[in-house]
Amino acid sequence: MPDLLLPDVLAPQLQGTLFGKHIHHYYKIGSTNTAALEAASTGAPEGSVFLAEQQTAGRGRGANQWHSARSVGIYCSALLRPALPPSDVLVLTLAAGLAVHSAIQEIDARVVPDLKWPNDVLIDGKKVCGILTEMHAEVTRVRYVVVGIGINVNQSSFPADLQAIATSLRLATGTEWSRVEVCVALLRSLDREYRSLLENPDAADSIRGRFEERSSSARGQRVVVEDGGFEGVTEGLDSRGFLQVRTAQGMRTVLSGVVRPC
Ligand code: BTN
Repeated sequence: MPDLLLPDVLAPQLQGTLFGKHIHHYYKIGSTNTAALEAASTGAPEGSVFLAEQQTAGRGRGANQWHSARSVGIYCSALLRPALPPSDVLVLTLAAGLAVHSAIQEIDARVVPDLKWPNDVLIDGKKVCGILTEMHAEVTRVRYVVVGIGINVNQSSFPADLQAIATSLRLATGTEWSRVEVCVALLRSLDREYRSLLENPDAADSIRGRFEERSSSARGQRVVVEDGGFEGVTEGLDSRGFLQVRTAQGMRTVLSGVVRPC
């Protein structure tokens, strides 16, 4: 069986989840996040999923690109319509990170991914997954959110400029992985996290707590916050999921920007 992320293959395994009914698959597309945002603006339902074998303009945070070679990674965007104020949306990125973490561990418990706030999953200190959450919102109310997840699965090498910072599940374990299996585990896990967020008032706290547990850098790491121009030691996440950093001048909250160990 070719390991393609086809709706007919995925849908039966996603039955009963939010993500089983509206799966869109592209062999080649600019960016699944852009496709999802466009579809959202014309009324696509919550739970729509956009998957590509290859992206020609995969987007990362800020002005970064996402290396999206054909049929070796998972390039996935999920459309959500949560009743949240925009200031609470960060928790969805954290939930997606947890979903990726669980999906990898479900398939091979020997692999221990490390979450890096707010949107990276690392293995052996290198990036195996990046998450780009984008939204359309009024000041007090979100209209829709697109959670874009890129997972490096079966790459056997990366372009020279990424070699020092990127890895894949295959490079980390020495074996080929089924992208279908990873994608199903990911969307099932994201479904669990998202449902519990909608249904359970304590879910955001649980997401924050579990994110901290699975992150070696969310507490006790000396960091520099590049755009903020300050440095200090990480002290976990606040109630909305923003990173707290104790500096010589007191506690600071990181609202955006790149956080680097120093
Ligand atoms: C980052 O680490 O900066 C975030 C990378 C996010 C990449 C994914 S791949 C699927 C989706 N479509 C995109 O264009 N970007 C996200």
